Amino acid sequence: MHSIDWKILERLRTGFLTGAQDYWRNESDVENYDQTFAQRIGWKWDYALRELKRRGWSPPAGDVLDWGCGTGIASRKVLEHFPGSARRLYLCDRSPLAMKFAARQVRGVDVWQESVPPRSVDLLLISHALTEQAEPFSLPCEAQAVIIVEPGTYDVSRRLIALRERLRGEFQVVAPCPHQAACGLRAAENERHWCHQFAPTPAEVFMDGDWARFAKLAGIDLRSLPVSYLTLDRRVVATGATQAIGRARVYKAHALVLTCDETGVRELRVTKRENPDLFRRLKKTRLTL
Ligand SMILES: C[S@@+](CC[C@H](N)C(=O)[O-])C[C@H]1O[C@@H](n2cnc3c(N)ncnc32)[C@H](O)[C@@H]1O
Repeated sequence: MHSIDWKILERLRTGFLTGAQDYWRNESDVENYDQTFAQRIGWKWDYALRELKRRGWSPPAGDVLDWGCGTGIASRKVLEHFPGSARRLYLCDRSPLAMKFAARQVRGVDVWQESVPPRSVDLLLISHALTEQAEPFSLPCEAQAVIIVEPGTYDVSRRLIALRERLRGEFQVVAPCPHQAACGLRAAENERHWCHQFAPTPAEVFMDGDWARFAKLAGIDLRSLPVSYLTLDRRVVATGATQAIGRARVYKAHALVLTCDETGVRELRVTKRENPDLFRRLKKTRLTL
């Protein structure tokens, strides 16, 4: 980070929390956001895109739309993880200031700044823009594939689940769901749960005083980066295995982890005696299977 204006970040954070719509006032706002909030969002994209690659998925080649682009971290990450897949990048935001900044960060692809999204694209990206939309949310344009990355909160996860249920006839669900059936978290007994995973924070962040100050200002714990995401595709996709939800609860001799597959969502009990390797892994990461 360099020359952060902490007052600007404080004002932006208040804007996000109070649901303000016009928080981008000048170039310094977007610059300061890009070095902090956007970087942290980028780590969530790193996690989601790595997971997609791990599942053997790659985006359809062609036109990409980063809708509600802000400083464009979502499209930057997609271009970084899947180089050469985008023919044209549409940046769309209600703020021309944000679009202009986002466009300046991109290299090697044709960039269009649009206040109105094109009618149809190959890949639609939405990042941390869902909470600013009315419900029920409809996709802003037609797309062959869609990736949405959002905060791992109860409310946002439930919105994503509702969207998944509305769109799963039209699209195949690529991730995080390992199946195409109805979401198991909609069952009455799972009402208290939400679909979220944890993205890793880069190690160097923990050595950096500016990040510590940012964490305090933003009221976040740098060690914990919850993310809810959804990837849909009209093409036929391979379906994954089991997906862990949230963190495992680890006790002395056993761990409990919420898992999802096409038969539903249920708690899996992993004992130290029967499954020492998996138990050790859960104890160490408390994250995933
Ligand atoms: C919290 S910021 C997130 C920015 C960026 N996607 C990211 O992940 O860092 C939300 C962005 O969505 C834009 N936005 C929200 N609703 C929009 C809409 N209906 N049309 C276009 N842009 C919108 C805002 O102007 C803002 O730049």
